Amino acid sequence: MRIVLVGPPGAGKGTQAAFLAQNLSIPHISTGDLFRANISKQTELGKLAKSYMDKGELVPDEVTIAMAKDRMEQPDAEHGFLLDGFPRNVSQAEALDVTLQEESMNLDAVLDLEVPEEEVVKRIAGRRICRNDSAHVFHVTYKKPKQEGVCDVCGGELYQRDDDSEETVRKRLEVYHTQTEPIIDYYKAQGLVVTISALGPVEEVTTRAMEALKRED
Ligand code: AP5
Ligand code: ZN
Repeated sequence: MRIVLVGPPGAGKGTQAAFLAQNLSIPHISTGDLFRANISKQTELGKLAKSYMDKGELVPDEVTIAMAKDRMEQPDAEHGFLLDGFPRNVSQAEALDVTLQEESMNLDAVLDLEVPEEEVVKRIAGRRICRNDSAHVFHVTYKKPKQEGVCDVCGGELYQRDDDSEETVRKRLEVYHTQTEPIIDYYKAQGLVVTISALGPVEEVTTRAMEALKRED
């Protein structure tokens, strides 16, 4: 299956993607995680991405599309993938359509996670991620690590993301409404959108998502 996950910052895209990718045996491709991996390795791409991410702005399309395309062309993505955080505006959605058409492939569904803004703010304020891998995600109240400040998966140190400050979160939400939400209409026109509530315990949201995706299969 080829799926796009969409939703505001803090909706739980990364959290759900980890379970869905495992259940569906497809790779989880997160452009945010790819940028963060580049930042920890201090690559040129990482330095460029950080300058935008710290302000809550989108990294320019040209580099983002090239990075996403390169990842989608890896052998493990041949039979499907779950995209998390890409596409994030209409130009990226159009570029993805072109890439898929070139390979005679198509998307199966766009899963839209709906969460009220007050909940998103609480989720982001308590989020802690692992220094070794930003896909290892915890929450001080909702998903407590067994030992405070230590990643359950790999023992790495947990920290708060630089772009999770109140001011940057406000900017990211604004960017979501103005630039990312329009892709929902873009995909509705293709009949691909399934919207689910992302409220409630993580496992319940996963079950809801799997049922919604089964109906699209
Ligand atoms: P990215 O990393 O994609 O961030 P985002 O979209 O803002 O989403 P988040 O990672 O903040 O949240 P999430 O929905 O994954 O939530 P999570 O599962 O962690 O992008 C960051 C930046 O990179 C962008 O601002 C931009 O600069 C750049 N970028 C990335 N892609 C780009 C692109 N395509 N083009 C241009 N620029 C790009 O959950 C949040 C918290 O809630 C966690 O603590 C979790 O434990 C908790 N939680 C999750 N589910 C539940 C639940 N059901 N109940 C209670 N708590 C929950
Ligand atoms: Zn870890």
